[in-house]
Amino acid sequence: MDIQKNLINFKRLPTHIAFIMDGNGRWAQKYNKTRAQGHEAGSKTLENLTKEMDRIGIQYVTAYAFSTENWNRPKAEVDFLMGLLRKYFKQHIRQAKKDNIKIKVIGDCSGLALDIQEQIKELENMTKDKTGLVLQLALNYGARDEMIRSIQKIGKDLLENKIKITEIDELMFEQYLDTATIPDPDLLIRTSGEIRLSNFLLWQMAYTELYFCEEFWPDFSIQNLYDAIYHFQQRKRRFGGL
Ligand code: FPP
Repeated sequence: MDIQKNLINFKRLPTHIAFIMDGNGRWAQKYNKTRAQGHEAGSKTLENLTKEMDRIGIQYVTAYAFSTENWNRPKAEVDFLMGLLRKYFKQHIRQAKKDNIKIKVIGDCSGLALDIQEQIKELENMTKDKTGLVLQLALNYGARDEMIRSIQKIGKDLLENKIKITEIDELMFEQYLDTATIPDPDLLIRTSGEIRLSNFLLWQMAYTELYFCEEFWPDFSIQNLYDAIYHFQQRKRRFGGL
């Protein structure tokens, strides 16, 4: 049953929502379309939801757009996804002046094509002072890879005597992650009926509320988002306490 919008407490929205946008391929199969069309439809879903979440005052969104493991897909699909990213960034660069969304990329950008790295730099720079929703796109992202890269940066700072071993604690470690300065997600939404984390934000999601739904990502609607927020608001978060 769909949750009515008036049951949502708009004063207690999750501060940060993370998305595993799963099911583009199965959506395509269901509607007799190509996988490429599935990804294209998926990118429109992200666009619509981002606008709505910015409108209602969600502060942070992280979307898993391309994982460190997605390189193992057929080359044609990887190429299509990279093309979609180029198109997405081009459009956002074009509309950055009038939008109020701040866009950041997490993941190992050095593994992306140089022109995409340039687009990311340009867009991050153009939107760095925006005051609306912060959208973190996870690209060439894997949580294990992120943690290893953090440990490498910590090791480098130790060798250069910038920090001491005894200073390393959770707070310091977090500052070396790609998500430094961004609060941990309150709610994770994964579409398409898969119930796993797939190497996404493993450190940051220690106390995140998890929500899994059956809809394929391109079909995930604003109504479905409200359903997820409603369920989130029924949970009692104890963070290990009583
Ligand atoms: C999972 O569906 C989705 C992905 C691996 C890519 C996510 C990408 C998008 C939503 C669109 C691109 C985003 C931007 C920002 C341009 P799947 O292919 O694993 O679906 P399946 O499991 O049904 O095959």
